[in-house]
Amino acid sequence: MENAGGRSRNVLFLAFLGVYFIVMSSAQLSEAAYGPLKGTQKTNAYATMLYMGTPRDYEFYVAARVMLGTLVRLQVDADLVVIASATVPQHWQKTLIDEGAKVVVVNDIQNPYKAEHHFEKRFEFTLNKVYAWSLTEYQRVVMLDVDNLFLRAPDELFQCGQFCAAFINPCIFHTGLFVLQPSNETFSNMMLDISGRKANRDGLDQGFLGSQFSDLLDRPMFYPPVNGSRLDGLFRLPLGYQMDASFFYLKLKWRIPCGPNSVITFPSVPMLKPWYWWSWPTLPLGLSWHEKRVATIGYETETPVLIVESFFYVVTMLLAMIIRQRCVAAEKNSIKSCFGRGPCAEKKLWYPWALKLAVLASVAISFLIPAYVIPTTVHPFMGWGLFLLGSLSLLTVVINMFQLPVLPVLTPWIGGIGALLVLASPFYKNGIMRGVGIGVYTALATPFLWWAIQKVCAAVNVRTHWDSPLMAWTGVRSEPASETVMKLC
Ligand SMILES: *[C@@H]1O[C@H](CO)[C@@H](O)[C@H](O)[C@H]1NC(C)=O
Ligand SMILES: *[C@@H]1O[C@H](CO)[C@@H](O)[C@H](O)[C@H]1NC(C)=O
Repeated sequence: MENAGGRSRNVLFLAFLGVYFIVMSSAQLSEAAYGPLKGTQKTNAYATMLYMGTPRDYEFYVAARVMLGTLVRLQVDADLVVIASATVPQHWQKTLIDEGAKVVVVNDIQNPYKAEHHFEKRFEFTLNKVYAWSLTEYQRVVMLDVDNLFLRAPDELFQCGQFCAAFINPCIFHTGLFVLQPSNETFSNMMLDISGRKANRDGLDQGFLGSQFSDLLDRPMFYPPVNGSRLDGLFRLPLGYQMDASFFYLKLKWRIPCGPNSVITFPSVPMLKPWYWWSWPTLPLGLSWHEKRVATIGYETETPVLIVESFFYVVTMLLAMIIRQRCVAAEKNSIKSCFGRGPCAEKKLWYPWALKLAVLASVAISFLIPAYVIPTTVHPFMGWGLFLLGSLSLLTVVINMFQLPVLPVLTPWIGGIGALLVLASPFYKNGIMRGVGIGVYTALATPFLWWAIQKVCAAVNVRTHWDSPLMAWTGVRSEPASETVMKLC
């Protein structure tokens, strides 16, 4: 029994390792670095801003680089400008410049609404967006949040007027992408409005710009003149310039028939921004974002961390298996001591509930630690691969430390792989079918999970009566299920 268990574990482990390295190396193949934009000053610019002080500064920096890199590859006819707070690290600024952007360093605009609104600190400096109006060397600026995913180069936006934005919400325009005409006058007026604490719905750029252009909903729709001339006035942008990623869930494909499908945005759930490895497959579009990352900045920064972590997990798993084998051998020779426990681990040492709690906590921790230490913006294949390897490795340690039955402890891990496959399956006609698929899978998987918990608890229960781990081990295997299962947690 023990041999069979060990062998199947080894096979599982090897198979998994193979898959993992194939996936990882293929995901690694990022295309060569793209060259910076050449030539002289352009008439127009795509701009974004970067400020510090959020818990996710690095992610935004990576996202900005991927977005700007995508625009470079789409060969847009415009400058790329990053409005960076003075606090943005020098080497980040240098990297952005090397990758083709112009960095305009600004002082953070202090947020006067801070006291009135209980907004999160990460939004404190969003009013820096107003600096876009100070870029007066450009005729038009398209101001962007970093969570825009460009499907094509929407340069016709520079033909729009003094201010143009799209309505994702039927009543409130979205400030993740808007066109503006820079103007010193407008800029100073806005700065006055900020220091004068003009009415602001949310204390952020969204509320501020909303009150600056409160009649945008009544303005005409923007259609670029075919002769290429620039328009005057305010316009609404077609939805194709700000396609909310959450629309995608319903149809699992894009269906915005009017206007060019140009830019996807991810305004809804901050924890499911497309750059996080865990966003996919919940958010199918996560892969599209990472395609852009592969094509632009690649994963050079994260690769060493991934390698070190994988190495650590493999070594840990091997050690746990070796020690386990030693223990079994030792037990057979009645030298009963493993991990400082043996017969030696006196019956009274563990109260059953404490032991059960320790086992359940250890299993939970085996999933949490690997998830926590994976760099947040790696490719989902790398992220999930490392997560599965890490949790398998730590579960192996838990199994051997508490001498638990293998299959029940690995059930949540196997169930997790199943869930990933169900979520990632490309065969759904639409989002509703996908929802049904997930529901059915959950219903089918729950009994297995329940069985696994019972098995583990039963094993722990039996353990408290054991005199030696070896007897216990055989006891678990041979005891009729009914007897142990009754003694549930
Ligand atoms: C706007 O102001 C800046 C500096 O305050 C100046 O360099 C620039 O020429 C001005 N632009 C226009 C169009 O007046
Ligand atoms: C371009 O077309 C618009 C109408 O769409 C017209 O008003 C404008 O004068 C034209 N400009 C040029 C340079 O032909």
